[in-house]
Amino acid sequence: MTTQQSLSVGIHDIAIATGHHVLELDDLAERLGVDPAKYHVGIGQDAFSVPAPDEDIVTMGAAAAKEVIDRHGVEGIRTVLFATESGVDQSKAAGVFVHGLLGLPKGVRVVELKQACYGGTAAVQLALGIVARAPHERVLVIAADVARYDVDTAAEPTQGAGAAAILVSADPDLIEIEPAAGVFTADVDDFWRPNDRSTALVDGRLSVSAYVDAFIGAWDDLAAQGGPAFGDIARFVHHQPFTKMAIKAHRKLTQHVGEPFDESELAIGFTYNKQTGNTYTASIWIGLAALLDLDDDLAGQRIAMFSYGSGSVGELMTGIVRPDHQQHRRVGRVQEVLGSRVRLTVDEYRALHAAGAATSEDVERPRVTAGPFRFAGVRGGARHYEAVAQD
Ligand code: HMG
Repeated sequence: MTTQQSLSVGIHDIAIATGHHVLELDDLAERLGVDPAKYHVGIGQDAFSVPAPDEDIVTMGAAAAKEVIDRHGVEGIRTVLFATESGVDQSKAAGVFVHGLLGLPKGVRVVELKQACYGGTAAVQLALGIVARAPHERVLVIAADVARYDVDTAAEPTQGAGAAAILVSADPDLIEIEPAAGVFTADVDDFWRPNDRSTALVDGRLSVSAYVDAFIGAWDDLAAQGGPAFGDIARFVHHQPFTKMAIKAHRKLTQHVGEPFDESELAIGFTYNKQTGNTYTASIWIGLAALLDLDDDLAGQRIAMFSYGSGSVGELMTGIVRPDHQQHRRVGRVQEVLGSRVRLTVDEYRALHAAGAATSEDVERPRVTAGPFRFAGVRGGARHYEAVAQD
């Protein structure tokens, strides 16, 4: 019998994109007569991205995916998995629009996945399975969302918009994902969006406790699957609906396992999400991108990634960061993406919010986005996208 060498599969690259506009939470606090510290400290957010009228999950997802394709080409990509909970069509997968915009080869399967914010992690797990079976293939995962709540609700400051494109491959540049994962599902009405609504409904308090329950449940399941001890994990990165949520959950885990709690270890992973706001499926991957870009002590270390999707499903994965991952840092690019957003007044943001519901009526969208792709409008009931000439 020959000894089989174990195959290393994981994350080869991550790129992020976001909306054209930004609302500073200081401006919202002033309008609502709220102490800005409630936002900066109480929920741990500074701003949130707002898409332009000619942007949506497709344009943001395609922009992030274009970066990955520009760096690595299309060779070996035979699967595109698009995770979202703000889908633009009940039938056609958003990834099919992206396939067209990026000019991907015809020999590719494309599908859309949904389970609230957890969908992106499900997509990565499916991608790992495909690559484990066919190591010459690479899978393009796209996670993109627009988080919309009603204005004048407690959830309003926790909106956001963004996308992450993740290339999953054998012998990855960034992180080798370990086989054991902890999973947890419980049927809870903490957050949902019925088919006739463009904004989510949420029971805020229940959502916070449901998130914590899923984190602890996934931890216990990971332990039962032979996962690592708490002390063998150098960093945690969490789904970040607002960054304070990760702190709350992590404190509970440290109590659960009887370890000291050090909030400062989480801070680097919050850097980008504090600026984008909640990006639902993309949130954990944007957190991971920040950690890989900005933490200087990750090489060869184990990190744990916790994904939560309301309703609810949680998953805790672990991976080993590649020793030379710093050669692939994208920090300058992300700063450009976040820093080039155009600031909105509260009135401008609220006008965009009011007009933001999806429509099947024929409409032309004004040219606003500076991104590589735009939503041109609806013609004959079908959505049309186009490339934007770049300077
Ligand atoms: P709220 O009404 O702002 O809550 O709603 P609050 O009044 O309790 O204040 C929040 C925190 O600010 C508290 O701290 C206050 O003490 C503090 P905590 O007790 O929690 O540690 N605070 C201050 N701090 C400093 N200076 C001050 C000050 N004033 C108050 N002056 C809530 C908060 C999260 C409920 C709301 O924003 C919400 O409903 N958000 C949407 C739901 C959500 O994000 N839930 C998270 C878990 S569910 C999830 O992650 C899934 C999701 O991403 C969707 C999906 O899966 O698809 C949402």
